[in-house]
Amino acid sequence: MLAGHLGLAGSLMSRRAFAQADKPNPFLKGGFAPVHDELDVAGLVVRGEVPREIAGTYLRNGPNPAYPPISYNYPFDGDGMVHAVTFADGKVGYRNRFVLTAGLRADRRAGRTIYGSLLRPITPDPRYVPPDGDPSRIKNVANTNVVSHAGRILAIYESDIPYELAPTLETKGRYDFAGKLQDGMTAHPKIDPASGEMLMFRYWFRPPFLAYRVVDKAGAIVRDVPIDTDASFMIHDFVFTRDHVVFFLCPAVFGDAGLSWQPERGTRIAVIRRDGTGDVRWFSDEAFFVFHFMNAHEADGRINVDYVQHGALFGGASPMLWRAVLDLATSSIRRTQLDDRIGEFPRVDPARAGSANRYGWLPVKAKGDDLGAFGAIARYDLQTGRSAVHEFGAGREVDEPVFVPRAGARSESDGWIMTYVYDRATDGSVLAILDAVDIEKPPIAEIVMPRRVPHGLHGNWLPA
Ligand SMILES: [Fe+2]
Repeated sequence: MLAGHLGLAGSLMSRRAFAQADKPNPFLKGGFAPVHDELDVAGLVVRGEVPREIAGTYLRNGPNPAYPPISYNYPFDGDGMVHAVTFADGKVGYRNRFVLTAGLRADRRAGRTIYGSLLRPITPDPRYVPPDGDPSRIKNVANTNVVSHAGRILAIYESDIPYELAPTLETKGRYDFAGKLQDGMTAHPKIDPASGEMLMFRYWFRPPFLAYRVVDKAGAIVRDVPIDTDASFMIHDFVFTRDHVVFFLCPAVFGDAGLSWQPERGTRIAVIRRDGTGDVRWFSDEAFFVFHFMNAHEADGRINVDYVQHGALFGGASPMLWRAVLDLATSSIRRTQLDDRIGEFPRVDPARAGSANRYGWLPVKAKGDDLGAFGAIARYDLQTGRSAVHEFGAGREVDEPVFVPRAGARSESDGWIMTYVYDRATDGSVLAILDAVDIEKPPIAEIVMPRRVPHGLHGNWLPA
């Protein structure tokens, strides 16, 4: 099912690299190459000084094939591996574990991978698939995000059942919300800081193609709202506001021939009330594609949505930060480009999710960047329209930034930004800590990882 970052890879890689993805695969080399050891290391070396008030764990997930792949299309194939960096009393420790999915257990039984890839599925050899195993042709690798809600840590693959992890990162097993989640969930659920609810959705090949769901703050699915659409749209992410959830139905459509880009459909936007009541409000525009949203909020009958816009699912205009303003009274939409830097993986202070935020952060291209790599982090000020950039220097590649609030923070962005930084020259990684607002300053600290942490996808900060 999952087709997650297909277009992301297509947009950020050169076409040549994508075409040659299987021979030899650039996403099995350098900063993307998998690691196979599962470490538990205390007292990491720190350059600079870690603020003692930072207490908690940064969890991050990503593709990390445990066995040489038969076919590999980064980043939607590859077993999930979660990396955890824990801060306590100014000391820092590191631990990483594979997400031990049913598919990976079958692979281990066989001593090799028995699965293909999203683009080249293989029916797994039933001799190695136990009764509780993963018989599907696409392995649920649980590699895209790792979130914590209602006391559970979930490793998630797009539109599939998540796996629950213990705080030690050991895999507890599939988690189906007490039997209420039969089909799957987005890898980008949203946690409302005001209500404690987790909002999510799933798309599917059969009607209803789209369903919106609400998990209450205690972790129970309490609302399940089918949304009537005329086709199966690939939807990777969404946004919410105080009263609404917003889905961008970009024309990446699943049909008999698989996934296709159908720009003649245009992009449609569905706005529904969070409580599931009332009619869907529809907005129409020309075709574009969105993987990731920064945030959204509503005021005076308008919904502001900040997001990274791709010109198309494959190719097209490079991903950049845009804003769409949806006028609920007139059903009209106005889009404006906010920045002309190429970037992706935008994040905000999670305390501002669903409400107006002044700041947002995203990796952006720096001079000389290669393949899917980014060399800089931009801090965007939505109030002034100005941005500041921290470039990490030649040969250094960053990942998604996460915001870490200062304990007891009263104002937005009172805290730090963390991101892994891979250094091509040393083939090593650090976890860099930047001042969240004065991002251009030298890092406050760089934590030297015991060995390279491969480039990954999404993660979150868990306060102690
Ligand atoms: Fe994503």
